[in-house]
Amino acid sequence: MSVALITGANRGLGLEFVQQYLSKGWRVLAACRDPENATSLNKLAQNGNVEILQLDVTDETSINQLGAVLTGQAIDHLVLNAGVLGTECSTLGNMTQVNWLEVLNINTVAPALLIQMLYNNVASSEHKTIVGISSRVASIGDNGSGNMYSYRTSKAALNQILVSAARNLSQYGIKTLAVHPGWVKTDMGGEDATFTPQQSVSGIIHQAQSLTLEQSGSFKVFDGSNIEW
Ligand SMILES: NC(=O)c1ccc[n+]([C@@H]2O[C@H](COP(=O)([O-])OP(=O)(O)OC[C@H]3O[C@@H](n4cnc5c(N)ncnc54)[C@H](OP(=O)(O)O)[C@@H]3O)[C@@H](O)[C@H]2O)c1
Repeated sequence: MSVALITGANRGLGLEFVQQYLSKGWRVLAACRDPENATSLNKLAQNGNVEILQLDVTDETSINQLGAVLTGQAIDHLVLNAGVLGTECSTLGNMTQVNWLEVLNINTVAPALLIQMLYNNVASSEHKTIVGISSRVASIGDNGSGNMYSYRTSKAALNQILVSAARNLSQYGIKTLAVHPGWVKTDMGGEDATFTPQQSVSGIIHQAQSLTLEQSGSFKVFDGSNIEW
C-alpha cells in the first residue's frame, strides 16, 4: 500500500489531500498542530487508513519527534503543505522582524528541515516523491504587482530548496516538485477564489504521480503548466 505524509492536514488543501489519497486506496500519515481539535480529520481517521501525527512545523523538537516515530516507515509522497500568508508583512510600512521570521520559519525553514529528516523514508518507498506547495507569487518573472513581501520571498526560497533537494537526492531516485495550487477556496484563499480544493488537489496528485526524474526540480501549476522562476 502506498503512503502519503501531509503536513497541515487538518483543514484546507491538507484535509483534501487526506481525502483524495484515501479514496485512491493509499495510507495517509496526517500531520497537524493540534490532533485533539482536528475534528474533520478525526472523522476521516475512522476510515482506519489514516494515522494522525502531532507536528508544529515551527518547533524543531516536534520535527525530530516525527522523524523518530517514522523511523523505517516508507513515504511515497511527502507533501509539504502547511503554510501561512503572513499578511502582517505584506506591505511596506507594516513589516516587523518577528512576523517576518514566523513566515520564513513555517513556509521555508520547516520544509527544508522536514526534507532533511524524512528523505530516507522517501528513498525507501516505491514512488519517491516530494511535493512542496508553493505559489505563483514566488515567481520573480511574474511579479507585476509587488507587495506580499514575506510570503513571496518565503515561497521563492522554498522553490530554491526543492531544486537543491532535486539535485542532492536524485542519487536515491527521489523527485521533487514545486507546485502552485491555483487560487483555491480555503481559509487562506477565501470564498472568491477560482478553484475548489477538489480541483486543485486532484491536479497536484496527478502532477506528482506523473513526475519523472528528468522533470525533478520543476515549478508547475496544478494543471501541469509551467511557471517562470
Ligand atoms: N489557498 C490558496 O489560494 C493558495 C494559493 C497558493 C498557495 N497556497 C499554499 O497552499 C498551502 C495550503 O494552504 P491552504 O489554502 O490550505 O491554507 P489554510 O486553509 O490556511 O491551511 C493552512 C494549514 O497550514 C497549517 N499550519 C500553519 N502553521 C502551522 C504550523 N506552525 N505547524 C503546522 N501546521 C501549520 C494550518 O494548521 P492550523 O489549523 O493548526 O493553523 C493549516 O492546516 C499553503 O502552503 C499555502 O501557502 C494556497
